[in-house]
Parts: sequence; C-alpha cells; structure tokens
Amino acid sequence: MPVVPVIANAPESRYDIHIRRGLLHDCAHLFAAYKGKKAAVVADSNTAPLYSYALMDQLHRAGIEPSVIILPAGEETKCAAQLERLYDAFLDFRLTRADLVIALGGGVVGDITGYAAATFMRGVHFIQVPTTLLAQVDSSVGGKVAINHPRGKNLLGAFYQPELVLIDTDTLKTLDDRQIGAGLGEVIKYGCICDSALFERIEALGSRESLLPVIDEIIARCCEIKAEYVRQDPHDHGVRMQLNFGHTLAHALENAMGYGTLLHGEAVSIGMAAACRWGEALGYTPPGTAQRVTRVLEAYSLMTGYPAGLSPDMLAGQMALDKKAEGSKVRTVLLTGIGACRAVPLTPQELLISLNGGNP
Ligand SMILES: NC(=O)c1ccc[n+]([C@@H]2O[C@H](COP(=O)([O-])OP(=O)(O)OC[C@H]3O[C@@H](n4cnc5c(N)ncnc54)[C@H](O)[C@@H]3O)[C@@H](O)[C@H]2O)c1
Repeated sequence: MPVVPVIANAPESRYDIHIRRGLLHDCAHLFAAYKGKKAAVVADSNTAPLYSYALMDQLHRAGIEPSVIILPAGEETKCAAQLERLYDAFLDFRLTRADLVIALGGGVVGDITGYAAATFMRGVHFIQVPTTLLAQVDSSVGGKVAINHPRGKNLLGAFYQPELVLIDTDTLKTLDDRQIGAGLGEVIKYGCICDSALFERIEALGSRESLLPVIDEIIARCCEIKAEYVRQDPHDHGVRMQLNFGHTLAHALENAMGYGTLLHGEAVSIGMAAACRWGEALGYTPPGTAQRVTRVLEAYSLMTGYPAGLSPDMLAGQMALDKKAEGSKVRTVLLTGIGACRAVPLTPQELLISLNGGNP
C-alpha cells in the first residue's frame, strides 16, 4: 500500500497518507496509537450512508466509540451555523482533547471539520478520510482548514495539519462523473507545474477509462507532490503559490458565473488552458504547450474554452480583484515548459491582451 509521508513544520510533526482500495474496511490498526476512547466522525448527507458504517466498524474494533455527525452536503455547509452545530455535537458527546475528530467526505467536510478540530478546546486530534478525488489529491493534504464568510470563500480559517490521512480509492466508485472530472483537473495541474513524467503518463493513458484502474498510483504521486510543496512552504507564503496554476481565471469565472455553476476543478481546467495561451502570447511559455495541455484536458472530458457570454473585459476586471493581486498587477502562474512554471506579475492590460489571445 502506498504510504506518503508529509512533514509540514518539523520532522516530529510528520503524518502519513495511506492509500489503498478497501482501506475503510481494514484500518483499525491505524487507530491503535490513539489513547482517546471516542471519535466524532463528521460526514455529509451523501457520505454518511455510504461509508460511515465501515468506518464505525473499524473504530469499534480499535476500542474507540464513534458518534456520527451528519452535515448537509454542499458548499453552503462551510458556514458559522454548521460550525456551531459541530461544537455542540462535540460537547454533547463529551469529547475531550485525547479523543479524535474524523472528517469523512469531500473538501467541504474536510475544511469545516478541520476548522472545528483546530479550534475546539484549542485543538484536538484530527484525521482526514477524503472521499472525492479532489479531496484525495489536494484538500486533505496540507492543513488548510476553513469556513466561508458571507462576504467571501474561506475567509475564516487556520493551518491545522491532520495526524493521519486515509484514502480508500474504492470510494471513487460512487462519485459522479463531474466530480471525478473536477479532481482530474487538479491531477493534470500537478503534471503541468512540476512533473513532466506524470503529465506524459496521463497523456499516454489518454482517457478516464484507462486512468481509473491505476488511480491509486496517480493519487499517491499527487500526494507526494503536494507534500513536497507543503514541506517547503507550510504557510503558503512562497512556492505553494505555484499550486494556483489556472486559478486566476478560475476564480474570475466562479465569481462571474456564480459559485457552483462550474465545479472548481472544471473552472481550473479552463484557467489552465487559458494560462497556457497567455504564456505563449506573452513569450513565457514555449509554443505548442497550449495545444498539448488543451488536448490532454479535453481527452479527459474537461472544458478548455471560455463559457459563452463572458466578455474578456469583464473577466480581466474580475481577475484584477484576485487576492493574489500586488498593487495593480496580478501574480499569475505560467508554464515555462511542461512540468515547470513561474509566477509572473501581469498588468490588467496584459491580462486583457492575454484573454484576447494576444491581440491588444
Ligand atoms: N483545504 C484545501 O487545501 C482545499 C483545497 C481545494 C479545495 N478545497 C475546498 O474543497 C471544497 C470542494 O471539495 P469537493 O470538490 O470535494 O466537494 P464536496 O465536498 O462538496 O463534495 C462534492 C460532492 O460529492 C459528494 N461526495 C463526496 N464523496 C462522495 C463519494 N465517495 N461518493 C458519492 N458522493 C460523494 C458530496 O456529498 C458532495 O455532494 C471547497 O469548499 C473548496 O474550497 C480546500
């Protein structure tokens, strides 16, 4: 079974990501190190009926009493009211600092549960059991936990690393195609920014049908890459910025179209294809890269063109509001080849020229 170590702050804070099909039915031994006798398992209305029974069974076998807390599925759950509900449920369950909090679900459950774990009694043991592809390759690793504020996404948050990440890739069998696609967008992103071998492998596999049978290895490689970024930049002040490849336009699209119209990974796909075109137009990205990246994204049924009805002017204006803006320039990650990238500050004029395919 692949085990990927993550070292976020210091060697003694190392944690492991275990990746295996069927892991949810055989993970009791991984809880043996915990002295606590209770675990609050936070799931959502989709993941609870599918996976909480297997996890509860394993916790029972480890001598730990579980209590399942079920949140409504969906992004709206990452809010103060649901956070309060979690605190209340932890208190009703008489959870102590020796006990465990386990997130069983996608990035929404992981983010709000992690934030609750970070703040309840100033921090309790936290385990991630991610069940979407996006959560398995991205959000469950690296310690960013958050809820949304009515004025913006992820505005209230913390860095709080899990102590264990359990990835049972069988959970992907119940995930719908769009969610798989959104996760694949992030997988392709890792290949683009820092691992040409991963990109070439995905390119050679050529379709979801060929890739899914080897998804364990692909997820393990993505976790290694994310772990290396986290090791180098645990608090997201430097090189971790590269993980935002495709995100400048993605955030603008999400704002312009309303959150939820496009899944985040779908917006990132459009953003990556666009960033390759801009990089070529501005002379940072070798010619032909955009065509190659676009071909791979489309082979995996991801969108690469701007959705109809959105004007370049409006999108450029949205991008200028990006939180990575420095003065009047927006730091945008551009590829300098397949598997290599750099963050480049672009002026609004350059963004507009980029959106127009290189034409002023
Ligand atoms: N913390 C980070 O570093 C980080 C990184 C990227 C994204 N995020 C956050 O992650 C969230 C998005 O996460 P997501 O894409 O996983 O969405 P999600 O958690 O909303 O899950 C998507 C949908 O799939 C369902 N689902 C989950 N697992 C399932 C399974 N195995 N079978 C069937 N259905 C299943 C969920 O109930 C939900 O309806 C956003 O809030 C985003 O801000 C966080």
